[in-house]
Amino acid sequence: MKVLQFGRTGQVATAVQAAARESVEVTALSRAECDLENAEQIREAIREADCDLVLNTAAFTQVDPAEARPDEAFTVNAIAPDVMAEACAARGLPFVHLSTDAVFDGVTDRPYVETDEARPINAYGRSKLAGEQAVLAHPRTVVLRVSWVFSRYGRNYVSFMLRLARERDVLRVVADQFGSPTDGEALAAFLVATAPRWAGAPADDPAFGLFHFANAGETSRFDFAKAAIDRDPQARARIEPTTQAAFAEPAPRPPRSPLDTAKLRAVFGFEPEPWRAAVERTADRLIASGLAV
Ligand SMILES: NC(=O)c1ccc[n+]([C@@H]2O[C@H](COP(=O)([O-])OP(=O)(O)OC[C@H]3O[C@@H](n4cnc5c(N)ncnc54)[C@H](OP(=O)(O)O)[C@@H]3O)[C@@H](O)[C@H]2O)c1
Repeated sequence: MKVLQFGRTGQVATAVQAAARESVEVTALSRAECDLENAEQIREAIREADCDLVLNTAAFTQVDPAEARPDEAFTVNAIAPDVMAEACAARGLPFVHLSTDAVFDGVTDRPYVETDEARPINAYGRSKLAGEQAVLAHPRTVVLRVSWVFSRYGRNYVSFMLRLARERDVLRVVADQFGSPTDGEALAAFLVATAPRWAGAPADDPAFGLFHFANAGETSRFDFAKAAIDRDPQARARIEPTTQAAFAEPAPRPPRSPLDTAKLRAVFGFEPEPWRAAVERTADRLIASGLAV
């Protein structure tokens, strides 16, 4: 089983390479090897790859810079995945892509299901929604929406909060934003385990299409951070709740965007772990490694 992966240094990219080991051979392309702003480089990479499946983990993921550079975000998050899906279709290869809860406006009284209308409220969300729609127009494509991804790898919310809690006396964390944390290592393990099914499935298989992938349960940014920081004996910051409005970031965030994963369970039999257990385990591992990520 061979996978061509766009993205090599990112959080999920690294987690997939760690999960793959012997079962799946992953060829991961860095930005230097394939720039997602260069469509011809993408086409050439897929045309020449010896692989059974293509996975895109690369994206323009910086939510605030995307407000200032929407064209660049759109090129990387919408045009590049469209080019990938088209090149995969030309070779009959399945294509797996990642998206985000940021496609929703966050005005909801329940977790979002895949059929809920997406109404992004920032440039990042708009670019990712356009990418989803372009990808899903091609056959044998998968879009997994994930949210609040954390892991032992890359720069992510858990590792960032742990570090800040050691450096600062007071740490103010947003308490009025709610969502579903996603264990990036569980995501990587799922991608690796499911790759052979996607590789062998016909276009009408229910394994293709749009899915939500997240840990079970919903939490606030504040409780998410606190669950990790409470594990660290060296944390010294006092954690205080604040509001999104007080942070005044350039890009608005959806206030509540938990993801319902019932479709994932029905199609793949995947049972997401409750978010707190996964956050605590990841925090323990990061702390044991001296917060070296
Ligand atoms: N992290 C989250 O909380 C979160 C939440 C929801 C959805 N997602 C989605 O999950 C996926 C993976 O996210 P992640 O957390 O792994 O992101 P990440 O750690 O920020 O990694 C993004 C990767 O994309 C690469 N990239 C960016 N622009 C590129 C370009 N022009 N050409 C080639 N490579 C480029 C980056 O390369 P460089 O290292 O060279 O910059 C990096 O390796 C993305 O689709 C993201 O939208 C993430």
